[in-house]
Amino acid sequence: MQATSNLPRHVAIIMDGNGRWAKERGLPRIHGHQKGMETIRAIVRTARELGIQYLTLYAFSKENWARPKAEVNFLMNLLSQYLDSELNELNENQIRFNVIGRLEDLPPAIQGTIKRNIKLTQNNKGLVLTLALSYSSRIEIVNAAKRLCEKVTSGNLKIEEINEAIFSKELSTAGMPDPDLLIRTSGELRISNFLLWQISYTEIYVSDKYWPDFAKQDFLNAIKDFQKRERRYGRAETNEAGHD
Ligand code: FPP
Repeated sequence: MQATSNLPRHVAIIMDGNGRWAKERGLPRIHGHQKGMETIRAIVRTARELGIQYLTLYAFSKENWARPKAEVNFLMNLLSQYLDSELNELNENQIRFNVIGRLEDLPPAIQGTIKRNIKLTQNNKGLVLTLALSYSSRIEIVNAAKRLCEKVTSGNLKIEEINEAIFSKELSTAGMPDPDLLIRTSGELRISNFLLWQISYTEIYVSDKYWPDFAKQDFLNAIKDFQKRERRYGRAETNEAGHD
């Protein structure tokens, strides 16, 4: 494997290009999703082997519901299959399963499986694997604002007390560190309503590979690229003034 110094603690991935992968092969889009699920398995395994603490995957956006019904149904079936087939693997590898997004939008059976997987992996101490499902970062932020308003209205919080830390606690990622590295596959230079608040200072890495082709080595390349970067969080370069 590779140097484990300066590993990103939290890696988030926008998995894009399943449809184009299939189209290039003259296959229906669903074949791209099927192959994309295998990529998820390989990348989760690699993240765990490297010792990354948090991996967050954008599996289904709020906007994805507008896709043709047959594709949405296929993705839901695939998700259900993934949740069932991975449970043992998660536990064998100390992976804690987690979900962000509007779970209430998902079919009830899947909601049940998700809750079961969360419960049965809750004591695992290794990688935290988060799937973003029916996720919209803007909705997440609006909901956080609403909850803070409720707390103010009920007298449990003063407006002057609201700061970034208090706000973060109302997001679905509360308790998780912000992503250090955001990977997007298939070459698109967009954020697509993913973790808008949380990626303020995240390093971004775009791979031209379609998600089904994104292999272990591509993931390792992204990590290596991250390890070479100097993160300044808006400050000046190091060493000149003797502090960062
Ligand atoms: C983007 O490809 C990918 C998604 C819609 C979400 C990711 C889904 C998977 C990796 C497979 C399913 C796995 C689970 C756990 C449900 P796209 O269809 O947007 O590709 P395109 O931009 O080339 O059309």
